Amino acid sequence: MGGDERLELLGALRDYLEDLGESGVDGLPLAAAPAAEQKHGEQRLSTPVRERSEALQESAAPVGETLESIRADLGECRRCALADGRTNLVYGVGNPEARLVFVGEGPGRDEDIQGEPFVGEAGKLLTKIIEAMGLGRSEVYICNVVKCRPPQNRDPIPAEIEACSQFMLRQVMAIRPKAIVALGKFAAQTLLESKTPISRLRGSFHDFHGIPLMPTYHPAALLRDHSLKRDVWEDMKQVMKLLAEQG
Ligand code: URA
Repeated sequence: MGGDERLELLGALRDYLEDLGESGVDGLPLAAAPAAEQKHGEQRLSTPVRERSEALQESAAPVGETLESIRADLGECRRCALADGRTNLVYGVGNPEARLVFVGEGPGRDEDIQGEPFVGEAGKLLTKIIEAMGLGRSEVYICNVVKCRPPQNRDPIPAEIEACSQFMLRQVMAIRPKAIVALGKFAAQTLLESKTPISRLRGSFHDFHGIPLMPTYHPAALLRDHSLKRDVWEDMKQVMKLLAEQG
């Protein structure tokens, strides 16, 4: 191959990789190993996913962690400025052995006052969704990406997510549910380390350390735009089917 052809090929490859990156693809599978080198049943993960998994196993989710030990580690947290404005730190609620975990964004006013996630208007809608799935709030586990209320319910900023999200990730890993529902952009993008919009992430399962994760719209978005309810229900039907198949 001549020098010009090689440059053209490299340019096309770079464009292709940039397109993939913009679509939220954050890694490519390693080249298939010769059969003799591949352990039976081994699933080859893309390198960044494997690195993430190892990092989480090594640092964020020490073996034997429980929801209580993670809560104790969180303590009277002052890792970011949200601590200054909180009434209560909102850790999580529900069954420590839940088959299904819901992850939201962060506490609002009602949650900050009561110290429990999803108890305000969006929470009432989430409870209805859970019940429509044939489950109860006490059967599932509910937590948020950030544990303290952002002022005026603004979006959490990257530094707050950075400081706090390890606790949510450890909660999920301690429970190891059969499925995770990520409610809205912040939960989905944090869990999946993706920048892809929620409208493109939702509708199909993604992998979170071997646990199927369904991103869907946040209940607060449904309160603003009722037409999104149909999509959320389609997503929840897939989750119900998966849970039913797993017995
Ligand atoms: N919105 C969230 O994302 N979490 C809550 O706990 C309440 C509202």
